Amino acid sequence: MKGRARESHRPLIFFAVLLALLSSFEALTVELDEERSSEISRFQQYLQINTSQPNPNYQEAADFILSLAKTLNLESEKVDFVSGKPVVLLKWPGKNPTLPSILLNSHTDVVTTEDHKWIHPPFLAHINSEGNIFARGSQDMKCVGMQYLEAIRRLKKAGFEPTRTVYLSFVPDEEIGGHGGAEPFSQSDTFKKMNVGIVLDEGLASPDENYRAFYGERSPWWLAIKAFGSPGHGARLYDNTAMENLLKSLESIRRFRAAQFDTVKSGAKEEGEVISVNMVFLKAGTPSPSGFVMNVQPSQAEAGFDIRVPPNALHDLLEQKIMEEWAPSSRNMTFEFKQKNFGRDVFGKPAVTVADNSNPWWTLLEEAVKKAGGKLRKPEIFPASTDARYFREQGLPAIGFSPMANTPILLHDHNEFLNQEEYLKGITVYESIIEAYASFVDSTAIDASKDEL
Ligand SMILES: *[C@@H]1O[C@H](CO)[C@@H](O)[C@H](O)[C@H]1NC(C)=O
Ligand SMILES: *[C@@H]1O[C@H](CO)[C@@H](O)[C@H](O)[C@H]1NC(C)=O
Ligand SMILES: [Zn+2]
Repeated sequence: MKGRARESHRPLIFFAVLLALLSSFEALTVELDEERSSEISRFQQYLQINTSQPNPNYQEAADFILSLAKTLNLESEKVDFVSGKPVVLLKWPGKNPTLPSILLNSHTDVVTTEDHKWIHPPFLAHINSEGNIFARGSQDMKCVGMQYLEAIRRLKKAGFEPTRTVYLSFVPDEEIGGHGGAEPFSQSDTFKKMNVGIVLDEGLASPDENYRAFYGERSPWWLAIKAFGSPGHGARLYDNTAMENLLKSLESIRRFRAAQFDTVKSGAKEEGEVISVNMVFLKAGTPSPSGFVMNVQPSQAEAGFDIRVPPNALHDLLEQKIMEEWAPSSRNMTFEFKQKNFGRDVFGKPAVTVADNSNPWWTLLEEAVKKAGGKLRKPEIFPASTDARYFREQGLPAIGFSPMANTPILLHDHNEFLNQEEYLKGITVYESIIEAYASFVDSTAIDASKDEL
């Protein structure tokens, strides 16, 4: 009987405990919901600042970042390496400031927009019914800049203290080459004093469930070729006209492009591993008031190409191809590079970061992403250019990583958006990475090899 009486009380106690648990769970959920909605709202505020090239509102962006830094108790500094183009530097001091630091870099500018082609205005940061946040910069790369800060906010709240110092840099002008931002910053004394050991910078969205990480970049070779020939009547068939000479080059370049592209299409190579060639201008013809003169074969014709060269490509062979096949002097052609970068660091080595288990920073990133429930594709060469190249050129490891899975690649496109759940997941991923990086001390290998430099 005794036993039974006790048993009859059990449901009551059970319900009381359950109620208590539920209400504390509810309080926690409410708190979590509030936290999430303020994280989203801070992201929207940053997106609403018009930092579009060619006239970015850098002061407003800098003020906003500085105000966030204040709420996080981070040390802050604003440095104009080029006048009117502020770099905002934030510092979370580590317990062991002698260890090389972590640098989390992001750019504050965004590319221009054609507003009328957007379904929601590009600086409104409107969230639609599916939770997609529409704004220029939502992918490239205001998301990452804010995710760094939100991850630090969460880590601080949880009582985490970094061993290594963590720096954040918010730099201007990435979209116009970085000459007013990351380039002078990476070469400055300010930067040297920061004793940076690893840099994180932007990557790309991934349409599938796997995040993408980038360990190097292709280098731009901007080539203009020019063909010369004797002018003549448009009805006459004769050899060596400027147009014919140029067309032979175009045929050859087109074949090369198709072959490179085929290896991407077949899956044999990633986009960043091949040499891409795209024609970006064609300039020929004799102008007339109504367009072009139709019965004259012109004496000159020109074309321009955006060529992107992977770090391990054979530069000499490509140059030879250009000289012998794409613009041979024997065909009365000349060529000129508007830009030609070899992607080498200050030691003359290819500016790539080792992305395998021999680099602890890579292993730590891989593990941290996994720990946060994310999946990572095999590391890639970034198909275009980012500010990361300036840090790699200083001989530093730099990894490009924007945690956006299940997201169409819309950078520089109309209707750029990022889903809010994906954005929040990215904060969790960065929380995990920053925690791993800032705690990492068993570093004899990397810290020593850096001393040798
Ligand atoms: C944003 O700034 C650019 C100048 O860089 C300007 O052309 C554009 O109209 C601005 N957009 C809005 C919505 O204010
Ligand atoms: C190149 O130009 C020279 C001089 O105008 C001409 O004699 C020759 O036929 C041209 N060759 C070609 C391949 O166009
Ligand atoms: Zn970018």
